[in-house]
Amino acid sequence: MSLPSRLPAILQAVMQGQPRALADSHYPRWHHAPVTGLMNDPNGFVEFAGRYHLFYQWNPLACDHKFKCWAHWSSDDLLHWRHEPIALMPDEEYDRNGCYSGSAVDNHGTLTLCYTGNVKFDDGSRTAWQCLATENADGTFTKLGPVLPLPEGYTGHVRDPKVWQHEGRWYMVLGAQDLQKRGKVLLFSSADLHQWSNEGEIAGYAINGLDDAGYMWECPDLFPLGDQHVLICCPQGVAREKERYLNTYPAVWMAGAFDYERATFQHGELHELDAGFEFYAPQTLQTSDGRRLLVGWMGVPDGEEMRQPTLANGWIHQMTCLRELEFIDGKLYQRPLRELTALRDETHVWQDGPLPLSPMEIALDTDRSEALSIDFGGALTLQRDADGIRLMRRSLASDEIHTRYWRGEVRSLRIFIDQSSVEIFINDGEGVMSSRYFPVYPAQLVVTGKTPGAFCYWPLRTCMVE
Ligand code: FRU
Repeated sequence: MSLPSRLPAILQAVMQGQPRALADSHYPRWHHAPVTGLMNDPNGFVEFAGRYHLFYQWNPLACDHKFKCWAHWSSDDLLHWRHEPIALMPDEEYDRNGCYSGSAVDNHGTLTLCYTGNVKFDDGSRTAWQCLATENADGTFTKLGPVLPLPEGYTGHVRDPKVWQHEGRWYMVLGAQDLQKRGKVLLFSSADLHQWSNEGEIAGYAINGLDDAGYMWECPDLFPLGDQHVLICCPQGVAREKERYLNTYPAVWMAGAFDYERATFQHGELHELDAGFEFYAPQTLQTSDGRRLLVGWMGVPDGEEMRQPTLANGWIHQMTCLRELEFIDGKLYQRPLRELTALRDETHVWQDGPLPLSPMEIALDTDRSEALSIDFGGALTLQRDADGIRLMRRSLASDEIHTRYWRGEVRSLRIFIDQSSVEIFINDGEGVMSSRYFPVYPAQLVVTGKTPGAFCYWPLRTCMVE
């Protein structure tokens, strides 16, 4: 039975909210953000019939995590995106508390969404259904309903299907919590996307020598990269360290050997995917030209998100820029999508003095021994010394200064600035730090330290979703 449609309310929210969001000085000029309400995970990132599709978790009705729909953008060049019809709304009994995260596949020429129907009960418990939906000729989607109930041995926290095809068979990883409240990644396989067999647990607590690895692993994504497989996921409950795992929840990667026959993944250590303040729930896409692209949510749940100033303008959160992944000498490299150079305006050479803060890309070669400091409008500070990078900003909740760290020799930096985000690529992608910041405009970018005798920067052209 369908629940009453919330479309009229959604339409009203967009009509009322969009002008306010777009007029906000913190609204991104070239990143994806919601036109109103709350956006979180990227979903269904796929290349289908010559177009790229990026869906996302969206609550159009309020800046909270309650009414999760799948909204949809598409693009033919990964730079210019357009709004598509809203794809999924929580309007069936089996997804009534949210059309949660998932992926998209090309099933014999039909764009098919695999998502989690989240259901909460009055006693505080919940269940989850893995569900399908297929695209219609007009760009809307028809739900096919649940194809997988909660597997035995797990709590109601089983979600975020990432589905792919290998040698004619479908595979799916799911984030899960077992009955002992330990985080796991589950593997399923299917001939037709409808009937699924449980292949077992492939990563998580007590697997591959991990002991305490948190109570829930969200948003897994498993893919080949170079001669390895890489598993990306978001383990909740990983212990904080002095300079790592400082966000409420991290996104991590681990590399190893995935065996389809035995359904095992032998992996090495967990590594934080991004050392900045905001980065979560990333998802990857294999392009037809052979690249593995990644996009993440530049937000983290349950931290200070509800204190961000954009809430006053009825919107919250944005995506990261798109990145290209490569596996080099045992490390996962993330580089800015090569197409982004098309957003560059004229090349400028910085010599001295402050710059007006505005969307721009900066490229610096850094000399190890010299200290360098960059102040982003008084709202975020980067400091480089011989140990690496420190990124500092004031808490939105108190006067405390929070710091994030990247450790290692810093040889070069490419920094991508938007109205309220900074993405720092270290050593051609060896490290990345993604963060939101909320300067009061007009603001200045101040570079100090001897290192950058001169460096290049490019104002970035506005590239809004249409
Ligand atoms: C991660 C997450 C997913 C879930 C979605 C709900 O941010 O909690 O596990 O599917 O968000 O919006």
